[in-house]
Amino acid sequence: MTASRPPVSILIDTDPGIDDVVALSLAARSPELHVAGITTTYGNATLAAATRNASAVLALLEKPIPIYPGSDRPLERPLVTAPDTHGPTGVGYAPVGGEELVTPNPTVLLGLLEWSEQPVTLVTLGPLTNLAHALSVGPDLVRSRVRRHIGMFGSLHEQGNTNRWADFNAWADPEAVDIVLRAGLPTVMVGLDVTRRMELSAAQVEHLATSSDPLIAWLAKALRFYGRNGCVVHDVLPLGELIEPDLLTLAQVSLAVNLEEGVHRGHTMESPAGTPSQVALDVDMARMRALLARVFGEELQWQ
Ligand code: RIB
Ligand code: CA
Repeated sequence: MTASRPPVSILIDTDPGIDDVVALSLAARSPELHVAGITTTYGNATLAAATRNASAVLALLEKPIPIYPGSDRPLERPLVTAPDTHGPTGVGYAPVGGEELVTPNPTVLLGLLEWSEQPVTLVTLGPLTNLAHALSVGPDLVRSRVRRHIGMFGSLHEQGNTNRWADFNAWADPEAVDIVLRAGLPTVMVGLDVTRRMELSAAQVEHLATSSDPLIAWLAKALRFYGRNGCVVHDVLPLGELIEPDLLTLAQVSLAVNLEEGVHRGHTMESPAGTPSQVALDVDMARMRALLARVFGEELQWQ
């Protein structure tokens, strides 16, 4: 952390999710960031499970960051979660308590932005439904209080992970992506083009499972859900960029999202009818991997 730079105040909108809890740990353990609040959304798991999971990892981090439940379903599409990818609880094999009853509050982000005295940087790690609701109700307020929106969603050239073209966050609520892109926020799309490279191997996860640190051992149980396959921790990259600006190579792209059903649903693509947006096209993997030592307590051995 450079002494001259004060911490960046951020709000994190998240759907924990195995990679989300790794990303929340990185944010909480980075003095360059001040996490002013966390909003939760359906996505990898239900809203109730995602909220429970956020609370579980913050307890292990011993960070009393407030958590505010948001949307429990997409704007228009049926709710689809990802138990095959994140397990029935949403955090793999990591032990968690029972689901608490949470009251959905789709405009939660708008309320938080209204309360925030200063503009904030908004980090989205799940479907963009909460941000879309905030923009639909109070677009001017959102524009005045969101200094920058950097989100893990989409894919420009990389193959999708949910259909041929889309990542899960864009696929889950493409109408929300459309609203966000058309809002003309300073949005940075950190998509599969770069996040797919952030893979932890089964051997690395097994090594982490031997840790005496309760947080690391818990995260390892979450990551172990992937078994012999590597686990791609997509969601750490937006945080990496905020901790170390220019970790990502960004390009301006006129971005639009496909709202059809089928293989192009949620496809974020370059289009003359799109909105000028920043898109991450490359990442300094050595620096990103080094940052993960803040979470895992040591420099992992990388192939
Ligand atoms: O496509 C990857 C994204 O979808 C990640 O944010 C992951 O947590 C899931 O939400
Ligand atoms: Ca996520």
